[in-house]
Amino acid sequence: MIKMRLDEVAAAVGGRLAGADPAAVLTGDVEYDSRKVGPGGLFVAFPGEKVDGHEFAAAAVAAGATAVLGSRPVEGVPMVLVDDPLAALAALARVVVSRLPDLSVIGLTGSSGKTTTKDLVAQLAARLGPTVAPAGSLNNELGYPHTVLRSDEATRFLVLEMGARGAGHISYLAGIARPRVGVVLNVGVAHIGEFGSVEGIAAAKGELPEAVPVDGVAVLNADDEWVRKMAVRTRGKVVLFGESADADVRADEVTLDERGRASYTLRVARGSVPVRLRVSGRHQVANSLAAAAVARELGMPLRELGEALGELELRSARRMDLFDRPDGVTVIDDSYNANPASASAALRALAAVGAGRRTVAVLGYMAELGEFERSGHEEVGRLAAELGVDRLVVVGDAAGPIHDGAIAHPGWEGRSVVVGDQAAAIDALHAELRPGDVVLVKGSRYRTWDVADALRADGHAA
Ligand SMILES: Nc1ncnc2c1ncn2[C@@H]1O[C@H](COP(=O)(O)OP(=O)(O)OP(=O)(O)O)[C@@H](O)[C@H]1O
Ligand SMILES: [Mg+2]
Repeated sequence: MIKMRLDEVAAAVGGRLAGADPAAVLTGDVEYDSRKVGPGGLFVAFPGEKVDGHEFAAAAVAAGATAVLGSRPVEGVPMVLVDDPLAALAALARVVVSRLPDLSVIGLTGSSGKTTTKDLVAQLAARLGPTVAPAGSLNNELGYPHTVLRSDEATRFLVLEMGARGAGHISYLAGIARPRVGVVLNVGVAHIGEFGSVEGIAAAKGELPEAVPVDGVAVLNADDEWVRKMAVRTRGKVVLFGESADADVRADEVTLDERGRASYTLRVARGSVPVRLRVSGRHQVANSLAAAAVARELGMPLRELGEALGELELRSARRMDLFDRPDGVTVIDDSYNANPASASAALRALAAVGAGRRTVAVLGYMAELGEFERSGHEEVGRLAAELGVDRLVVVGDAAGPIHDGAIAHPGWEGRSVVVGDQAAAIDALHAELRPGDVVLVKGSRYRTWDVADALRADGHAA
């Protein structure tokens, strides 16, 4: 956060001070979780449905906050009062960006891989200059401005994840901090229940290239027909990444090793360089190409880029987290969330890592698929069978169509069971697992996390 006087903060958010010294200065970060507020910070109190942030206002000040931004006065607390704290948070972030003319904002969206790729881009950008990026998946109307507000005069690059659960969301975020480089990874059926159609999802994601300014860059996936079509929706320069022949940043001669890690030749207009990734999964080729395209735009020379790509690591938990247990079982914890595209990517990684070994996939329910609910699950089961996965453990009746899809696949020699809950899945695995097995755990959030954690704990106990 840049230093700001409280009267400047009030002016920025169109609010008024109550019980606060106008000359007091913000020197710390802006937080909406009172436990995170530190000395010199600003605590944003949201009314909230369950808990009212104003109840923590005094605690925030005791923890050192200079003031609290909220919608009603609190006795003994220096306040910046506004009608709408969320709009105020956005307004404050906007003013901070306007005071940092040297800041390059990079925004990423897509149905799968935003957090993963945001972490890759942030690691590359950090080699070029001081970089701010959120931890994990802070990509909405709260997390986005929160991350923006962590920037200060020293920050060169601000890397932001942009989530879209509906039309207008990305435009809103872009209005807070406009990306000079906007990356669209892919368009899938994630959250289709809320959008109604793939067209609707593509339209919403296309708000990012639309928001990119004339002197900016839209970085688009050449291999995704929906994303490729977004080239006409930007005033900025278009850079295509992918494996298609016309991609500007292209991977060629892709191979996978026994850990599912890709090596490829990175080709750009002026040359090529070999790349050897440390992160697992064929889909990391696309993610790393997107990151490479951004790094090129930020000025990274090709040779350094090849090396830097090889050093990228995972930063956010439960995404392609591959580990070996002492008992010889290999686990792929990809349990952060799931949709048909990311489940397919994960199953392919399982097949790559599990070549010549016995493979087990623990698959949970995929939320928010709307009319694709049944077919989306069946398709995942079919793919598991097609890839020759040996054992399927389907968690929860709602995920049952995964089982149906697998057993309907002609010639599949594997076995599938549907278990009622995670505890039953853990029991099934205890009975089943043998040294040398490779287990994938994949599902939407809390629906399979316990399974992944149990597999991790078993490993330590062994
Ligand atoms: N390019 C990709 N294609 C398909 N799946 C991917 C891709 N990149 C990552 N994944 C997988 O998708 C899942 C979600 O990854 P990640 O958290 O990076 O995505 P996200 O878009 O940020 O998700 P969210 O919408 O929850 O924020 C993980 O299981 C990850 O392994
Ligand atoms: Mg995310």
